[in-house]
Amino acid sequence: MAVEPVIALQQLVKTFQIRDSLFRSHPLNAVDNVDLDVHTGEVLGLLGRNGAGKTTLIKMMAGLLRPDGGTGRVLGYDVYRDHKKIRASVSLVAPTADVGTDNNLTVRQNLEFWAVVYDLDRQLRDQRIDELLTFLNLKSYEDHWPISISAGMRQRLAIARSLLVHNPILFLDEPTVKLDAAGAHAVREFIRKINREFGITIILTTHFIFEAERLCDRVAIMDEGKIMSCDSVANLRRHLQRYDSSVIQCGEVPESLRREAIRHLGALPQVASCSFQGERAEAAQFEISADPLESVLFDALKTLRAHDIDIHAVDTNQPSLEDIFLDTVNSKGAS
Ligand SMILES: Nc1ncnc2c1ncn2[C@@H]1O[C@H](COP(=O)(O)OP(=O)(O)OP(=O)(O)O)[C@@H](O)[C@H]1O
Ligand SMILES: [Mg+2]
Repeated sequence: MAVEPVIALQQLVKTFQIRDSLFRSHPLNAVDNVDLDVHTGEVLGLLGRNGAGKTTLIKMMAGLLRPDGGTGRVLGYDVYRDHKKIRASVSLVAPTADVGTDNNLTVRQNLEFWAVVYDLDRQLRDQRIDELLTFLNLKSYEDHWPISISAGMRQRLAIARSLLVHNPILFLDEPTVKLDAAGAHAVREFIRKINREFGITIILTTHFIFEAERLCDRVAIMDEGKIMSCDSVANLRRHLQRYDSSVIQCGEVPESLRREAIRHLGALPQVASCSFQGERAEAAQFEISADPLESVLFDALKTLRAHDIDIHAVDTNQPSLEDIFLDTVNSKGAS
C-alpha cells in the first residue's frame, strides 16, 4: 500500500497585490500552481533566487498564510480549514526567528520559558535544553543575556527554541544565514541528526547550494513562483543531461588515429558525448561524458591504449548542483 505523503499540494497559489512606483496595484503570483508531495522522513530543499516564492510556499505549508487557490494537506490537515492544527504540529525557524527571544531572560531561561509554553515534561525539559545548548555550541553562553551575544548565537538560540518539541515536520527558512562556518556546520550536523534519529521530515530553504547538495534527499528548484524541477540531485543531473565527464590528457595523436579512437570511444555503451581537443601534441586531450562515468572509464582508457595512445593524466568532473540550478533558472521550462 502506498504511504500517504506528509505534505500533498496541488496547484497551490498565493497572490499578493503589489504597487508599482506610480502606486498602481498589480497582482503577483508569489506561488504559482505548485504541485508538491513531501514524504515522511525526507529532507527537501527549496532553492531559488530572491523573490522566487520559497518563504511564501513555506508559510502556506506551515499554516501561517492562507492560499488563494489550489488544494493542500499537511499531516492530513487541510491548508484552508485546519491552519491552527497545522501550526500546532509543525516547527518553523524563520530568518527573523530571534524576534521571539526575550532579552530580560538569559539564554537558558529563554529555552525554559518556551519549554513551559510547549508543555514539555519537566524531566525531558532539562535534558532537551542541555542537549540543544551543547549541540548548538551555546552551553558556555547559557547564563548570558541575549542582547550580549552575537547575531549568529541569537540565531542558534532561535533554532534551539524551535527544536524543543520534536514535531514531525520542521521548516527551516535559511537556517544558517547568519552563522559562521563552525556554527553553520553544527546546525547542518544537527539537521542530519534529528532527521536520521527522530525521522523528522525537514523542508529547508538555502542560498548555499552546497548545503542543499549535502543535506537534501530531493531539491525543488523554484523560479517566479513555480517549481521548475524537483528530484534528487542525481536525477536532476540525468534529466538535464549534465553527465559526469572525464578529460584524458595524452601524448601526440595522429589525425587518422584520432578519428578512429573517437569512433570507438563513442561506441562504448553509456557514452553521451566524446570529443578531441588540441592540435599541439603537448595539449592533446579526449573528453568523454557518460552516465554513469565509472562504468565506462576503464574501457575508454583500454580503447586508447589499444590505439597505442600514451595516457598522461585523467581528470573527472561532476557537474555541481550550482550548474544544475543555473541551467534550470536560465532556461525556463526545463523541468
Ligand atoms: N506580504 C507580501 N506582500 C506583497 N508581496 C509579497 C509579500 N510577501 C512576499 N511578497 C512577494 O512575493 C514574492 C515571493 O517572495 P518570497 O519571500 O516568498 O521569496 P523568497 O524565494 O523567499 O525570496 P528570498 O530568497 O529573498 O527570501 C516576492 O516578489 C515578494 O516581493
Ligand atoms: Mg525567503
